[in-house]
Parts: sequence; structure tokens; C-alpha cells
Amino acid sequence: MEIKMFAGKIALVTGATAGMGRATALAFAREGARVVMAARREERGQDVVEQIARAGGESLFVKTDVRNPADVDALFQTIMDRYGRLDFAFNNAGVSTSHNPTVIKYDDAEWDRVLETNLRGVWLCMKHEIDIMKKQGGGVIVNTASILGVVGDWGLSSYCASKHGSLGMAKTAALEYCKDNIRINTICPGPIITEMLEKALPFMPTMLEVMAGKTAVRRVGRPEEIAGAVLWLCTDEAGFMIGKEIAIDGGYITY
Ligand SMILES: NC(=O)c1ccc[n+]([C@@H]2O[C@H](COP(=O)([O-])OP(=O)(O)OC[C@H]3O[C@@H](n4cnc5c(N)ncnc54)[C@H](OP(=O)(O)O)[C@@H]3O)[C@@H](O)[C@H]2O)c1
Repeated sequence: MEIKMFAGKIALVTGATAGMGRATALAFAREGARVVMAARREERGQDVVEQIARAGGESLFVKTDVRNPADVDALFQTIMDRYGRLDFAFNNAGVSTSHNPTVIKYDDAEWDRVLETNLRGVWLCMKHEIDIMKKQGGGVIVNTASILGVVGDWGLSSYCASKHGSLGMAKTAALEYCKDNIRINTICPGPIITEMLEKALPFMPTMLEVMAGKTAVRRVGRPEEIAGAVLWLCTDEAGFMIGKEIAIDGGYITY
């Protein structure tokens, strides 16, 4: 009989209706975890639930806007009502921004939209996750920042600020809660072909070539190339990895 790596474990994936979140939810399910998926698009979420069910796995979609504290409270209430524990949390929901003017001319509403999703949304989820994991004696949290969480980029100040902030918050929380057997780390993807990049194609048809040109391997990555790293971070083999980031970026050339 095949023994799956995460049999009996409960994993939360935010932003699981597309891209890296979806790929990671499928990967967790393949390894036997029961997966709770959170995002705003109900129909897309149910599609992933069905895909996991067809492969013999178990999952649950909870319609959630991570910017909304009431939604986030309800998400974690559902997890506890259904499973009574949470072993892994992948805080991955995020939005990008189109190129904007420089910092001093940046649009206020756009700044808030990006920061509320990519930073405040992660913080709101982490508060619940850490509380649950402390009470149950441990767990693993992985956040998605970006290669733009460690370097800047022209016209992307809100996105870069949100991702640097997310990385800093995870590093701090990792120090604060490792004594509670909670491991917190961050992945920093380079350009990955997901809806996020595809949405920008009508405005910038050369987007994929430009992004590929920023990597040493001269290609963009696939969501599945991220999922494997997230799963590894959740294993006991990653037990000495605390408050750090992994860049999975095709050898991103930063300048
Ligand atoms: N693609 C890249 O090149 C790249 C590179 C580095 C880092 N990242 C980061 O990787 C993460 C995943 O992005 P992706 O590339 O996989 O993009 P994607 O395909 O656009 O997926 C983004 C996911 O986030 C969810 N989401 C967005 N806003 C949300 C909200 N307010 N509440 C709940 N869920 C929300 C979306 O679902 P709904 O629309 O259904 O809510 C979707 O499932 C993001 O944090 C992104 O910043 C992406």
C-alpha cells in the first residue's frame, strides 16, 4: 500500500482558485492531506474541489476575501469546526499591480488595494494560524512573497512594499513562535506563468519575453515548480529552516 507523505494532515491554501495556490492545493491532496482552500471565486474553487475528489482526495472550498476580517474569522471557524486542527498553512493569496508612476505620484486607492491583500491579508490569516498551532503544539506556515520581496522594480512600489513587508513579518513571527514548535518560512518566486502574468498580456504583449529575459534560464516558471518547494518546507526534513526565504526564480538577474 502506498503511504502518502501528508496522510492525516490538514492544509490550508489561500489563493487556491488559480496559479501557484491551485497547483499547491493539488500537490498537498496528492500527498494525502485534506486541503482547505480559500479565495473569492466560488465556482473556480468548486472546480478544484472536484478535481481533487476525482483523484480520490478530500478538500473544502471556503469563499474568503482575505482583506475582510469577518471572512477570515469565518474561514478559521470552519476549519476548526470541520477538522479541529491545522497542520500547514500556505498564505499565498495575492494581487499584482500594473506599472504605476513613481513613489511620490502613486495612486492612493491602488496602494491600499495591494497592501491590504498582500500584507494585511497575510497578517489576518497568520494571527489565526499561529493561535491554532500554538494550542495544538505546532505547525508549519509558508507565505508567498516574491523575488520583488527582496529587490525593487520600477513602478511597482506598492507590490514591492507589500512583499518586502510580508517577508519581514514572517521572519519576525518565525523568531517569536519557533519556541511553540511553529516553523514559518517564505517562498520568493520569480516570474511564473499564471493568471497574474496573463492578465498583463493585453497591456504588454511582450511581457513573457521581458520576464523570461530577467532570468538566467531565459524562461518563466510553472506553478508546479513552486508547489514542490512549499511541500518540502512542510516536511520534517525542513525542520531546521526557520524564518528564511527560498527564491525559486530561474536565476533572476536583479540588475
Ligand atoms: N506569477 C508570478 O509571476 C508571481 C511571482 C512572484 C510572486 N507571486 C505571488 O504568488 C501568489 C500567487 O499568485 P499567482 O501568480 O498564482 O496568481 P493568480 O493566478 O492570479 O492567483 C492569485 C490567487 O489569489 C487569490 N486572491 C486574490 N485576491 C484575493 C483576496 N482578496 N482574497 C482571497 N484570495 C485572493 C485569487 O483568487 P480569487 O480571485 O478567486 O479571489 C487567486 O486564487 C501571489 O501572492 C503573488 O503575488 C506571483
